[in-house]
Order: sequence, then C-alpha cells, then structure tokens
Amino acid sequence: MIPTPHIEITNKDLLSKTVLMPGDPLRAKHIAETYLTDVVKINSVRNMLGYTGCYKGKKVTVMGSGMGMPSIGIYSYELYKFYDVENIIRVGSCGSYSPTLSVYDVILADAAYSESTFAKNAFNISEDVLDANKELNAKIIETARKLKIEIHCGLIHSSDVFYRDNIEFAKEIFKDKKCLAVEMESFALFANAIKLNKKAACILTVSDSLITKEVTSAIERQTAFNKMIEIALESI
Ligand code: HPA
Repeated sequence: MIPTPHIEITNKDLLSKTVLMPGDPLRAKHIAETYLTDVVKINSVRNMLGYTGCYKGKKVTVMGSGMGMPSIGIYSYELYKFYDVENIIRVGSCGSYSPTLSVYDVILADAAYSESTFAKNAFNISEDVLDANKELNAKIIETARKLKIEIHCGLIHSSDVFYRDNIEFAKEIFKDKKCLAVEMESFALFANAIKLNKKAACILTVSDSLITKEVTSAIERQTAFNKMIEIALESI
C-alpha cells in the first residue's frame, strides 16, 4: 500500500488492530522497550515514533499522537481509515480539576467535553460531549479491577489551551461541566472513532493539579505512568 502523508507504513500487517497512543513519541519508545518483545519500529516520520511488538503472545502497536487535537486528529484518522486499526487507547496525562484527585491517580474518560470546533468542522458533529467506546471502557474497568488498580471514571475536558489568563477557569469547568480533569486530545480521537465506526478509549494519569498546584517531574511521570500502561496492555 501507499503510505499516508504522516505514517510511512506500507504493510498493514505491521500494525495491530489495537493501538496504544501516548502523546509523547518517546513514551511510545519507552513502552515498547519496557513491555514488548520482538519490537519493530514502524514509523519515524516527523519523529512520531511507532513500534509493533509482542505482549504476552499478542501483537501490539504503540505510537505517539503528539499534543493537541490537530495532531491526534491526523494520526488517529490515518490509523483507523487507511490502516484498518479498530481500537485506539489513548494513554496520556491530565491536569486535575477535582480537589479529590491527586497526582498519579488514574482516570478513565467516560466522555470528553470540549469547546473545540474539531468535530463540527470535520464531520458536522455538533455535540460538545463525545463518548468513549463503552465496550472498550468496560474491558478497561474489568482489567483495572483484576490488577487491583483504582480507576476514576468520569467526564474529562479536552482543551485547546494550555496557558491562559483566566486562572479561575479550572474551577468554572469543574463546577459547570463536571469535568474531572483536563487534557488536549480525546475529543478529536472520539470524534474520529465515532465518524469512522471504530472504537476509542482514553486512560489518563494525573500529572498536575490545577486546584492544589501539585506537580510531577518528567522523570517521575515516565515511571509512575506504568500502572496505566499495564491496564491498557492487559485490556487488549
Ligand atoms: N492542561 C492541559 N493538558 C494537560 C495538563 C494541563 O494542565 N496536564 C496534563 N495535560
């Protein structure tokens, strides 16, 4: 097959039906090196690293999405539409809006709320809350229970903005929209999945709190994220 504009794979068999997508391509590399055997690098266009390997006998692809809805919008669309990927599980970080969620807590998105025009512009989908796939979520919840890892389910906020003037914004979104936490990708991922009749889920680890101002370092994040990765891998 002809590669897509952003992914250089010419053989669909190099990809698994389920793809794990961290935002950071180096985290994709870390996951492949830590958890997979027989690893093959499948993408390096724009350094958006992707790898396919084996986890407990199953073929698994892990590839970076980049930051923000435009970026995950491109990669997830190409994986679903041109490479026949069925399931994408985003494994990312988020900022907590909830006073009861602390750094390193794990969240499963029931749905993503966004003020983004991504879904409207791309597919004329006018809802501002888009659901994750219920089947994938049920599997992830069951897996977390088996692994005895606590997972908090709820609505998350997919934002286009990381730095903003209005510092009260977090409290307002928590109160008005009931969003537990903020990240920047899931709304576009869910829109693509809904449009293309595929499945998407999003597991997040809290990396900072917009309420308590608690933060983590990049190094701590890398290792603390392992429990989220284990839930995702064991769910496949
Ligand atoms: N804002 C948006 N996305 C994020 C954050 C945040 O504070 N933390 C991790 N991802």
